[in-house]
Amino acid sequence: MFTIITGAQFGDEGKGKIVDLLAKDYDVVARFQGGNNAGHTVRVGDEIYKLHLIPSGILLDARVLIGPGVVLNPEVLAEEIEMFEKHGINVNSEKLGVDAKTSIIMPYHIELDGLREAARETKIGTTKRGIGYAYIDKVARDEIRMAELVDKERFLKRLEELAPQKEKEIEAMGGNPKIVRDTVLIKRYLELGEQFAGYVTDVSREINQALDEGKNVMAEAAQGTHLDVIHGTQKFVTSSSTIAGSACANLGVGPTRVDNVIAIVKAYITRVGEGPLPTELTGELGERIQKAGGEFGTTTGRGRRCGWFDLPLLKKAISLNGYTEISLTKLDVLTGLDTLRICVGYKYKGENLDYPPELTEDLQECSPVYEDLPGWKDDLTEVKAYNELPENARNYVERLEELMKVPVNYISVGPGRAQTFKKGE
Ligand code: GDP
Ligand code: IMO
Ligand code: MG
Repeated sequence: MFTIITGAQFGDEGKGKIVDLLAKDYDVVARFQGGNNAGHTVRVGDEIYKLHLIPSGILLDARVLIGPGVVLNPEVLAEEIEMFEKHGINVNSEKLGVDAKTSIIMPYHIELDGLREAARETKIGTTKRGIGYAYIDKVARDEIRMAELVDKERFLKRLEELAPQKEKEIEAMGGNPKIVRDTVLIKRYLELGEQFAGYVTDVSREINQALDEGKNVMAEAAQGTHLDVIHGTQKFVTSSSTIAGSACANLGVGPTRVDNVIAIVKAYITRVGEGPLPTELTGELGERIQKAGGEFGTTTGRGRRCGWFDLPLLKKAISLNGYTEISLTKLDVLTGLDTLRICVGYKYKGENLDYPPELTEDLQECSPVYEDLPGWKDDLTEVKAYNELPENARNYVERLEELMKVPVNYISVGPGRAQTFKKGE
């Protein structure tokens, strides 16, 4: 079975939690795009794991893979491996594989990301992790790959070849070009390359073989649908394709092998960084949801902007991903609100829309049209089954399901594994 899991909104929907929950039924879990701009939180008992690169299936028996469409900062990978070792989890080459073609984030990518963002009149609010510039080099065919990182001679040769151009770029942007050939940084990368040599693998081959043997494979996305570089809210997007089809392209698995596509959907909406968010709550209510939901970035610590559930954006996410089921997270966060609002459409230049306009500048002009539902007062975090939910919480879920026209499978009412139940049971 091949399952793809993607975020249906602007990221931070709770992908880490749901992937960890479902991973017990999978033999392989693979990250297919993005880099350490992602922050996926997995909570097991009192332990909180914040993952930026390693797939969230790591805590179970699955083999975890980092695909060639990912941009990988080796220092971050080393930190994550060390964090797991400290928790007694051995991340050896049986457990983790990294594709030979995975692009390496170099210190100069981080420098360039920072310089470019500082120079932009209208900011994107990037995570400044060098993600965009690592992808620029991939597309320009100027990247350094995992295969080079782990081979000292090839690494130094490739860096020598690329350095003059990178130095010029940094200089032109007013930065310090010395970072490109910084001997301390190069030495560190060589050390990391040596450490990671055993992890190198062919991810497409591994996944196709696993599927041929009848094993279960899960593809884990980073970011969210509307941050997709092609279909998202440009320019306020990330630099990779975050939607389900991207899993096939990036992992090298044919679309005919996909069995199901799971959406991770937050019961409201959040966004970190700039860009349109039609249902944004800027006042006290927004702060209340932010606080109740702990809506602060896992990677950058920035406050996440919060808003009511946005159905037009969700409908577009369903079209872009072809979801077969939905996992609804953070329902507990809405407890205590007298009225819940669902944005069922937009007003745009006097017209009613039930689907987002294609361009960001037009989405920015949309104002939400709401349907109101009564809230509930009871705490949900101890609820163990769907029929134990207060009636108004069930009404909210069922109304969303009716509007989305895709079945809700799991409902999450807290960060822990046990704080999840199936809707149908
Ligand atoms: P991801 O990037 O999609 O993996 O999501 P993040 O980990 O960045 O953000 C989700 C946050 O919400 C994390 O702190 C999770 O521990 C937490 N979380 C996940 N599901 C729930 C839930 O149902 N209720 C609450 N209260 N928190 C949750
Ligand atoms: P997870 O996987 C939320 C946002 C940044 C910024 C934009 C571009 O945890 O859901 P980038 O550094 O990628 O060039 O920044 O994308 N962004 C995310 N927002 N969750 C994420 O990942 C994100 N990764 C990037 O805030 O607006
Ligand atoms: Mg996150």
